[in-house]
Amino acid sequence: MVASCGRAGGEDTGHEYMPDMAHSIAYEANYNSYYRNNTWGTEEDYRKMAEPRKPVANTIARGESVYHYEESERERAMAELNNAVTPANQEELDDILTRGGNLYNIYCAVCHGEEGNGNGPLYNNGDGPYPARPASFISDDFIKAGNSDGRFYHAIVYGKGVMQSHTDKLNPEERWEVIHYIRSLQGIKSGTAYDINAVGAVKVNVAPDTTAVEIEEPAHDEHAPH
Ligand code: HEC
Repeated sequence: MVASCGRAGGEDTGHEYMPDMAHSIAYEANYNSYYRNNTWGTEEDYRKMAEPRKPVANTIARGESVYHYEESERERAMAELNNAVTPANQEELDDILTRGGNLYNIYCAVCHGEEGNGNGPLYNNGDGPYPARPASFISDDFIKAGNSDGRFYHAIVYGKGVMQSHTDKLNPEERWEVIHYIRSLQGIKSGTAYDINAVGAVKVNVAPDTTAVEIEEPAHDEHAPH
C-alpha cells in the first residue's frame, strides 16, 4: 500500500498499480502509443505498430471506390466514362468548381498551369526542373469532342507517361470535381461559359458505376456474442 503511493512530479507519474489498466495496450494507426509502463511489448514493437500499413489484400473498405478499367483499357474508359459528379443546378456547380479549382491549383497547376495550358512553374517553357511537357488542357485536342471525361479520370488514376497516379491525393469525388474545373478552364479558352447547361453537353455515354461502394451494416443480433 505504502509503496504504491509514490509521489508524482514533473514528467514522473509516480508509481502505478497495474499500469496496463490505465494505459491501453490497444494501438491507434499512425500514433505511437508507447508508454514506459506498458508491459505488452518493447518500444520498438510499439513503433512498428504505429507505422502505416497497406490495406488488407482483396478487400474493399467501406466507402472505397472501385475503378473498373485496367490501365490498358484507356480507350474504353474514354468512350464510356462520364463525370459521376452531376450538379443539379448552377449553385451546386459553382460549389463544385470552387472545390475543384482549389484542388486543381494544389495538385495539378504546378505542372499543367493555372490556366491549364501545360506550362506550370515546374515546366516553365522547358526552363523548369520538370523534364516533360505536361498536357495542355486548353489545346484543341483536349477541348474538342472525343476527349471524354474518362480520359482525364484515367490519367488521374494511372498517370500518363512521366505523370504519376494521383489516387493518393484525390478521392473519386474530388477527381470528378477537378475534371469539372478543367472543363471550366476550357470554357474560358473557347469563350463558352461552363454553366449548368454546358455540363450536360459534354456527356458522351451512360457512366458505369464508379461511385463509392456502400457496404450494408450487418443486421444487429442482440443475442450474438460481442
Ligand atoms: C509533376 C507534374 C504533373 C502533375 C502534378 C500533374 N500532371 Fe498531368 N501530366 C503531366 C505530364 C508530363 C503529362 C504528359 C504525359 C504524356 O503524354 O506522356 C500529363 C498528362 C496529363 C493528362 C493527359 C492524358 C492523356 O490522355 O493524354 C491529363 C488528363 C492529366 N495529365 C491530368 C492531370 C490532373 C487532373 C492533375 C492533377 C490532379 C495532373 N495531371 C497533375 C504532368 C503532371
